This record gives sequence, structure tokens and C-alpha cells, in this order.
Amino acid sequence: MKICMIEKIKVYGRQKVNGKVRISGAKNAALPLLAAALLSSDGLHLKNVPPLTDITTMLALLENLGITYQVSKDSPYAHSVKLKTDALENFTAPYEIVKKMRASVLVLGPLLSRFGHCRVSLPGGCAIGVRPIDLHLKGMEALGATTELRDGYVHASAPNGLRGAEFTFPIVTVTGTENVMMAAALADGTTVLKNAAQEPEVVDLANCLNKMGADISGHGTDIITIQGVTSLHSSEHTVVPDRIEAGTYAIAAGITGGRVDLLGGDFGKLLPAFLDKMELAGLVFSPIDDGLRVESSGKILPLDVDTEPFPGYPTDLQAQCMAMLCFADGDSHIRENIWENRFMHVAELMRMGADISVSGTQAYVKGVKRLAAAPVMATDLRASFSLVLAALAADGDTLIDRAYHLDRGYCCVREKFADCGVEMERIK
Ligand code: EPZ
Repeated sequence: MKICMIEKIKVYGRQKVNGKVRISGAKNAALPLLAAALLSSDGLHLKNVPPLTDITTMLALLENLGITYQVSKDSPYAHSVKLKTDALENFTAPYEIVKKMRASVLVLGPLLSRFGHCRVSLPGGCAIGVRPIDLHLKGMEALGATTELRDGYVHASAPNGLRGAEFTFPIVTVTGTENVMMAAALADGTTVLKNAAQEPEVVDLANCLNKMGADISGHGTDIITIQGVTSLHSSEHTVVPDRIEAGTYAIAAGITGGRVDLLGGDFGKLLPAFLDKMELAGLVFSPIDDGLRVESSGKILPLDVDTEPFPGYPTDLQAQCMAMLCFADGDSHIRENIWENRFMHVAELMRMGADISVSGTQAYVKGVKRLAAAPVMATDLRASFSLVLAALAADGDTLIDRAYHLDRGYCCVREKFADCGVEMERIK
């Protein structure tokens, strides 16, 4: 699955979004689902996989472990991936791949559970924070594994197999929950995970594992119970729609005073706190066949936003919301409670004339009438889209550098916006 890496994107200003967007499969569901293939000896068939560079990275990692796969392009926005997992020959997730994408750590649980040992590079930091995996390791140790950190790698082993146990996460961790849940699927006995993540992507993974023969219950609540089984088999699973992509395009309608039909999922269920907040900001939602209509009321009202684990307001929609609040009639307050450094977009928005002050993990946004185009730089996946959103509403044409961050998590941005009457140009 080759995807071109764009370096820059030019966004023409003062545009109004007006049209329909087909929402792709969720990146943050597809990544653990691909790792889950390692648990089955006779493969896995995933549909509605989004064509993203993060997916390509995960497929490269799986290939490195000995998995072979076939990709078929069901539509420009959705691929099917058939994975063959009967010839695994390597149990190391190398730094060269893991450093590109933290989610690579998701192979730890499956490899440990199926083969009893593995070597996974520590992820290293990234733009939004240090991003440790200590809770992943504590969970594996609770199941009877030993883990050792040596030369930048986690050496994990469970020579006598994993045993079910009760484990409480001290803080909610999405991939931590997913990793330990996958390890527990083949452990001997019952595992109970407390303070588990409740994100829809965790639920989607548990649903797929159950189709593969696992015995998981409680997913979607903060207590997940896994009865270990001896093996998992192949299955076919369709990736849940991407609620973060959907929320991002909803904000595009809000910031440009337009309207968008989000197609391909029950976004009311996937984005409860987000929709509540956006209604307070002046967006109007109405259910339509196969999705949700989002309309601007013509005003953007200030907000007080706290990012929280699901079902709270998603941290992955914080930067996009901030871009819209730059234009609000009043002052807004954003508290980023999940990541210690997720305001990298602030400096770039300020180059466009935004009035934002940051103190630790809190940001204060004073609404202004206009923003003006300025050369800006994307720093991480969601921040890159917040710059696109601001640029759509700003005066003038904005050039966004390092726009390849967009391709990590959003497929076909130019094409999806073109379906809404919005022009932008990709510059290699
Ligand atoms: C997942 O990351 C998502 N990525 C992130 O989306 C998302 O921002 C995050 O969950 C929170 O919702 C994927 O699902 C692939 P965490 P994850 O473990 O699992 C701390 C995007 O834009 N922590 O829930 O890596 C951690 O530092 C990405 O698509 C530990 O201290 O996040 C953070 O402060 C960005 N020790 C907090 O917990 C650990 O062992 C939540 O992290 C694990 C996490």
C-alpha cells in the first residue's frame, strides 16, 4: 500500500465547507486489530482499513515478524487486508520501525501470549510527550511475564505461558488496555482488568477477538474480563468508523460557517461528549441516513473544555477545537488532561494572529475576528489538521509545512474536502 508523502499543503482561505464526507475506518482501531492477527495461527481478514502511513508502518512491522498479507482497494477510502500468520519467524519489533510509531508496542502482548517471548524497542518520545509504556509492562508482569529493559529494548518472556490475574491500571491507558487484553486472551485462566479504557476502538478490538474465539466481556466499561482460551482462529472484521476523523470534519463545518454530512457511522454514539460541547459552541446536529448532519449556526460560542478518557471529550479533538475557538465570540479555556505537551499547535496558530496564552497544560483562547495566512508547520498528526482548519477560515492562502503528519491519520484529505467544495493543493 504505497502512499505518497506530501511535504507541504496550500490551503486557500475564506472557504465554506458544504457537502458530504465518507468517514474511513478508525486508525486507532485498525492498528491494534492488525496486531491481533499475531494471536491467530490461521490469519485474519480486516475490512474498512484506512489507507494511512501509520497502517503501512504497522504492516511493515508485521512483515518483519514473518506475516504476509494482501491488500485490496475496496474504495479510495477503504482497503481490505488479508493476513497470513502461519510462518512467524522473528520476535523483535526493531527501533527503526517503533520510533516512527508508538503503537508498534501493540505487538508485545500478542507475541508474548502466543510465543512466550519477544523483544520490542522502547517507543521513544514524540511531539506530544514522553509516552512511556510502564503500564503495559506492569500488566504483562501481572500475567506472569518477566520484562527487562536492555539497550533500548524491552525483553519480555513467559516461558511457562501467561496466567490470568486481576490488574488495575493506575491511569487509563488505551493501548495499555489493548495490549494486556490481547495477552490475556491466550493466558491460562481468568483476567480482570480494572480502570480499563472504554474507547470505541477498545470495544472494536474485543469484538474482533471474540469473533476469533476469545472470551471477553465488559468491554466498553472500566472492568474487562477475559477468560483465557488455548488458541484463536481466523475471522473477518470490519473496522469501526473513525470518530476522530468525523469530529475533525464536524469542526471544519463549524469554523467555516458551513454544513457537512458525515457518512458511515453512528457518530452520536461514538462522540457523546464531543457533540455536547460542539452544540454549546453553536453547531447544530441532526441524524441522517447512515450518519450525522452538522450545520453551523453562524456563530462560534466560547467553551470550557477538559480532555478526558472516553466517554469524556477526546484529547485527539483538542487541537481542532482550539482552532475553531480562535474565532469564538469570547474567551475559552482548554485543559489538556491526557498529554503533558499537546499544545504544539498554539505557536503556529499565533503566527496566524490567534490570541492564546498557555500555562502548563491549560490554554486560554481569546476569540478574534480574523486570522491571517502565514507560513506554518505541522508538528503532530492532530495539530496538523488544526492548522488546515484555521487556514480554511483565515484571510489569504496558508502554506503548511511538514504536512506529511496529516497522512499518518487522515486519508484523502484533499479529495474529501473537494467533495465539500473546498480547494487545497498538495505540494511535494
Ligand atoms: C492512544 O494512545 C491513541 N493512539 C492516541 O491517539 C490518544 O491520544 C490516546 O490513546 C489517548 O486517547 C492509539 O490508539 C494508537 P494512553 P496511547 O496510553 O494508548 C500515559 C492520535 O492522534 N501512559 O491512553 O499511547 C501517557 O503518557 C493518537 O491518533 C503512561 O504513563 O495513550 C498519557 O499521558 C495520539 N504509561 C496517558 O497515559 C503507560 O504505560 C494516556 O496515554 C501508558 C500511558
